[in-house]
Formats: sequence, C-alpha cells, structure tokens
Amino acid sequence: MADSFTTADHLAQVLAAYSKSDNPRYNELAQAAIRHLHAFVEETGLTREEWFAGISWLVATGQKSDDKRNEFILASDTLGVSMLVEMTNHKAAGGTEPTVFGPFHLDGAPERERGASIADKDYGAPPLLFTGTICSTDGTPIAGARLDVWQAAPNLCYDVQDPDMPPMNYRGVFRSAEDGTYAFVTTRPPAYQIPGDGPAGAMLRAMNRHNWRPGHTHVVVEAPGYKTVITHVFDAASDYLDSDAVFGVRDSLIVDMSGEQVTFDFALEPVDA
Ligand code: BEZ
Ligand code: FE
Repeated sequence: MADSFTTADHLAQVLAAYSKSDNPRYNELAQAAIRHLHAFVEETGLTREEWFAGISWLVATGQKSDDKRNEFILASDTLGVSMLVEMTNHKAAGGTEPTVFGPFHLDGAPERERGASIADKDYGAPPLLFTGTICSTDGTPIAGARLDVWQAAPNLCYDVQDPDMPPMNYRGVFRSAEDGTYAFVTTRPPAYQIPGDGPAGAMLRAMNRHNWRPGHTHVVVEAPGYKTVITHVFDAASDYLDSDAVFGVRDSLIVDMSGEQVTFDFALEPVDA
C-alpha cells in the first residue's frame, strides 16, 4: 500500500514551517533553498551514504576555512555560483562586464603615482604598460576614479602566498586623470593554480577538472555616483581561457598582452540608471 503522506505533503509541511519570519526576504530565500534541496534529493534518489558524504564534505570545507582562507568561497567559485551571482546582479547595458572577486584582494594596497609599476620585486619579466580611459556608460570621462589593481607575480604566486615576496608586491591603487585616463606598469599576468589542497580541490580532481586560471589582472574601479566594477582583464594568449577553474572569463575582458602596452577602457554605470 502506498504511503498516504507523500513527499509533496512533506515539502508543503516544511515550507509552511519556514513562512513565519517577520523578514519577508528570509521566507523567500529559505523556501527557495528548501524547494531546490528537496527536488535535488528526489531527482537523484540520494542514498543515506551519499547524504552523509555530502555532509562530511561540508564539514571539511568549514574546517579548512579560517580568517585568511575561505574554502566555501572557493567551492562557490569552482561550482560557478560566484560567477552566477555577479551575472544576476549585473544589469548594466554597456557597462564593463564583472567577474569573480576572488580571495586574494587586500585592503590597504599602496597608492601609487600615475604610470608607476605595481612590481616591487624584479623577476626579469618585461614591463607592460596598462592604459585606458574610465568613462560613464554614456561616454563621459570620469576624473578621479579609483583603480585597485592586483595580480599574480611571474612566479605564479600572489604576495600572500609567498613569504619571500615584499608585502603588497603586484598591488596598487591609482586615480584617473582629468580626462578619465589611467596608466600603470605591470608585467604579463601568468596563468596559475587556485588552491587545490582542500575539499574544493578534491572535488575538482574527483570530477577530472584542473585548478588553473588563465592569466589575468584584477581591477576594481570605483567613482562617486557610479556602481563599482569588479573585474579582470585577461591575456588573449593565455592557456585555460576556455576552461577557467572558476568560469570567470568573458570575451569582452580579453585583450592582447603580447606587446609592450595594453589598452583597456572601463565603462561605469551611474548609480541612479
Ligand atoms: C583569483 O583570481 O584570484 C581567484 C578567483 C577565484 C578563486 C581563486 C582565485
Ligand atoms: Fe586572480
């Protein structure tokens, strides 16, 4: 005889229990998460062993995290969720496309003069001049915009990963000039591997995925009255552009970095647009 209390009845009971918050957004988020989780269990016929393996993976992900490393963000990145959040929140027609923030940004990077290098240690790599204009989406140049720039050094590491690097190596904050232009010097950003020694890395290996990211320079552009742009500029000749471990590549962000100079223009959406 079939059970009279069905999985649909069970779902309805759980949803009703999560409909009573004073904050309507809590109700909306909790109910959507519950609907999708229940559907996942039913669709896959999840076994108790598989349920426990999933719980253990989440526990290990928490245990691998501390104030310097957030393994949950790495898991979100490698599952394509972080990039989906960016896409969902980016509605700007004509604005620079966003991509993942990543875990290697540091507050307090040094303010550097226009045209200065972000490299404080010499690896023998040729200098690359990075220039362009920061404009509103209507084409008006933006003076005094703040560019926060960071990238991996030629040894494939961020400063925070390499104790032999000067702190804040390959980081800098720059301002756009009256005509909206900016300039700084770097070297060609290398492809590098994201941390693979935790549960996110184990998941990648189990799924026969690699943990490489194509060469890129991170930039956050901010200006009063405009929405902040968090993005990267990618090297067109890099490996892994079509298999980025965190799904962050967009065609509009790829440029030729094979010469002595890169030009990349940023377009910011006005806050009230
Ligand atoms: C990064 O580009 O720095 C990054 C992004 C996501 C995960 C790991 C690293
Ligand atoms: Fe990066």
